[in-house]
Amino acid sequence: MVEDASGSEWPGDHAPSVDLRTDVPHSARMYDFYLGGKDNFAADREAAAKVLEIFPDVAPGARANRRFLGRAVRFAAGLGIRQYVDIGTGIPAAGNTHEAAQSVAPESRIVYVDNDPIVLTHARALLSSTPEGRTAYLDADFRDHGRILSAPETAELIDFTQPVALLTVALLHFVPDGDDPGGVLERYKAVMPPRSVMIFSHATTDLVDDSDESQAVVRAYSGAGVGLTPRSRDRVTEFFTGWDLLDPGVVPVTDWRPDGNPDDAALKASQAGAFGGVAIKPA
Ligand SMILES: C[S@@+](CC[C@H](N)C(=O)[O-])C[C@H]1O[C@@H](n2cnc3c(N)ncnc32)[C@H](O)[C@@H]1O
Repeated sequence: MVEDASGSEWPGDHAPSVDLRTDVPHSARMYDFYLGGKDNFAADREAAAKVLEIFPDVAPGARANRRFLGRAVRFAAGLGIRQYVDIGTGIPAAGNTHEAAQSVAPESRIVYVDNDPIVLTHARALLSSTPEGRTAYLDADFRDHGRILSAPETAELIDFTQPVALLTVALLHFVPDGDDPGGVLERYKAVMPPRSVMIFSHATTDLVDDSDESQAVVRAYSGAGVGLTPRSRDRVTEFFTGWDLLDPGVVPVTDWRPDGNPDDAALKASQAGAFGGVAIKPA
């Protein structure tokens, strides 16, 4: 174990050279904590504990979101999609996008994108592709669509004449209205060819009866310096205007094409806390 500049302990004999600001909570590391991961620090755990106190279902909700990601990616693979741009990848956990996609089609190619330096330090785990497929990692911000779409890694792995899957799973609630997430998303939608799909999930307050509780969760995040913008079903649906929502539409993540997992069946919609769905660009 060694200590970095902020006093956080790291396994092994050296701390990473990027400044991870381990003294400040990060959304990726809070999510990792909810999922039971080990890539989080005291500041993340403290912030996550405050959220859990108000809304204990955030942890099973995060796991349900992760299972949704797996089902939706395997579904896209079943539609014949072989190339994915996964923005807001998160710290690697069980069932990463390339593992789900390549379990159906080993030749699948994935460009991972995240703006959190801790995810960058784990990029190697995301690059463990099958020999037939490829993965790449970009340290970039969703809002920087020009850079993401024109990056050499994207050019090498993604053929924009063939259908692509764009993933924004548990991402857009971290992009405030002032940054025009819908307008940015349109830039990605515009370059994707017909029969491309968007796989998305998004935190919502629609599913929770007690709006005080949801407001308290938003305050707990913003108190920790992490902006969270849950949106209504209508607002989430608006992001996909012009594309066809595939059945069953924008639904609690647990209700999106469930595969019989008992943990999903046991979770009420209000506990999932997020909508999910898949939309396809018309031919
Ligand atoms: C809740 S995690 C979701 C991880 C994964 N997509 C999943 O659903 O299991 C959200 C991720 O989005 C990333 N993120 C937040 N805002 C971002 C932005 N503007 N650009 C790129 N990544 C962002 C965070 O760093 C974090 O890793």
